[in-house]
Amino acid sequence: MRLNGKKSILLLSGVGIASSIIAASLGGWGQTAPKENAKWSLRAPNGIQFGLIKGYERWQVVAMHYRPDMKEMRYILANPIAVQAYHRGIPRNGKAFPNGAILVKIGYSLKPIDAFPNAIEPNVLKRVEFMVRDPKTFKNTGGWGFARFVYNQTTKTYTPYGKNAGFAQECFNCHAIVKKQDFVFTNYISKG
Ligand code: HEC
Repeated sequence: MRLNGKKSILLLSGVGIASSIIAASLGGWGQTAPKENAKWSLRAPNGIQFGLIKGYERWQVVAMHYRPDMKEMRYILANPIAVQAYHRGIPRNGKAFPNGAILVKIGYSLKPIDAFPNAIEPNVLKRVEFMVRDPKTFKNTGGWGFARFVYNQTTKTYTPYGKNAGFAQECFNCHAIVKKQDFVFTNYISKG
C-alpha cells in the first residue's frame, strides 16, 4: 500500500498519517530481527521515512554501477511505477517520472569469490539511499525527495545521513548534472 504512488505522496506530507507508516511497519515484527525492523521508522532530516521503501529488496534491479575508485558496486532498484516509466522510455526521452516513482541505490564493498577469486562479488552493505518523485512536496530539489541511510556493519544499524534538511541540496546539486534526464543518472538496459 505504501508503495502505491498516490498513497506514498500523502504519507510524505502528513505527520499524522506518517505515524501509520510506523504502525504498518510494526506489523512485520516477529518475522525478522527487531534491529532489522527498527530501520523502517528512521527518518532522513527532511522527514522522509525509511519505511517508504519497505519491501524494496524485492523490487526490480534496473542497473548495476561499478565505482572502481571507491571499490564499490551499486545496485539500482525501481518500484513498479518507476519500472513502467522506464519501459515508456523515461528518462532518456526527456520526460519526467510520474508521481510516486521511487529509485533506490544500494552500495556494497567488493570481495573476490572465495572459490573463484577472479570473480568479484558484493561484500558489505554500505548504504541504502533513494529518491521519490513528489513535485509538490519537493519543489526545491527538482521534484524529488532524497534520503540516505548509512549502514554500520558492526552494529548492524542504519544512520540517517545529513545534519539538517539542507543535506538534500547536496544530492540535488550533483544530480543537476542530469537535469535533462529528470535528474536521474540511471538508464534502463533491457536484458538479453
Ligand atoms: C557528487 C555527485 C552525487 C551526489 C552528491 C549524490 N549523487 Fe546520487 N548519484 C550520482 C551518480 C553519478 C549516480 C549514478 C551512478 C552510481 O550509481 O553511482 C547516482 C545515482 C543515484 C540514485 C539512483 C538513481 C539515479 O539517479 O541514477 C539515487 C537514488 C541517488 N543517487 C540518491 C542520492 C542521494 C539520496 C544523495 C544525497 C544524500 C545523492 N544521490 C547524492 C551522483 C551523486
